[in-house]
Amino acid sequence: MSSLAETSPLAVARTVQALRETVQGWRKAGERVGFVPTMGALHEGHLSLVRLAREQADRVVASVFVNPKQFAPTEDLDRYPRQEAEDARLLASAGCDLLFAPGPEAIYPPGFSTAITVAGVSDDLEGAFRPQMFGGVATVVAKLLIQAAPDVAVFGEKDYQQLLVIKRLVADLDLPVRIVPGPTVREDDGLALSSRNAYLTPEQRMIAGRLNLALADAARRARKGEPVAVIEKDTVAEIGEAGFDSVDYVAIRDAEDLAPFVGAVNGPARVLAAARIGATRLIDNLPI
Ligand code: PAF
Repeated sequence: MSSLAETSPLAVARTVQALRETVQGWRKAGERVGFVPTMGALHEGHLSLVRLAREQADRVVASVFVNPKQFAPTEDLDRYPRQEAEDARLLASAGCDLLFAPGPEAIYPPGFSTAITVAGVSDDLEGAFRPQMFGGVATVVAKLLIQAAPDVAVFGEKDYQQLLVIKRLVADLDLPVRIVPGPTVREDDGLALSSRNAYLTPEQRMIAGRLNLALADAARRARKGEPVAVIEKDTVAEIGEAGFDSVDYVAIRDAEDLAPFVGAVNGPARVLAAARIGATRLIDNLPI
């Protein structure tokens, strides 16, 4: 285990063995362990998850691993922002005790052949537009949860479908961890914090906040009992008129399993959307 002594007081584990030794030491001392998996390029949204983990546990581990298996060849794996020293500093300031920052070979050693699929909740929405993603997420999250063996793990509601996929994965594999959702952190204009916001030009940034406003309109209308199909169609148009180049989907779905509604919303629901400005794809969602 090494320490980024010049930049932060945070200990860094590079190997699964180093991670396990530290976590086992805490457990022997009777401490509860919280875990926050990330792909780095940390912002206030991630730090809020670390603080939430801190409230639920005595010790917090965060991982930074840009998982190649969840990117399609055409996606932004190469240009995904990487800033480990800054991430370590931010994690330490938020109360994290250990950064797990493995190299690709520590997660996917030569010969690695296992893939986890979570059927059903993965299939639609993000799964339809990014077929690679949830298999890659499920595989790496299963590994990380087995490696870190935390009592609780915190995942942001910003990636709402991912949160449901992980809950299903944990239930199906009997992983002994409690999954805690972390509320989305937003800019003043409503834009959900995301590492990919860094790609936006100042003009695109002005437009980006309108996605959340459109979803807030949709949620309001759904609560009033308007037909879901009409709201979805109008919201696609509203996002386009706001200046987005294209809309992958706007969907009002059951909050537990993402099943579609026929007619109006008749239970706990979520409105979810993905839209593109230039080369940047943004996602967001709100409760109804
Ligand atoms: O949400 C993310 O940052 C990633 O999908 C995760 C959960 C860390 C898995 O790589």
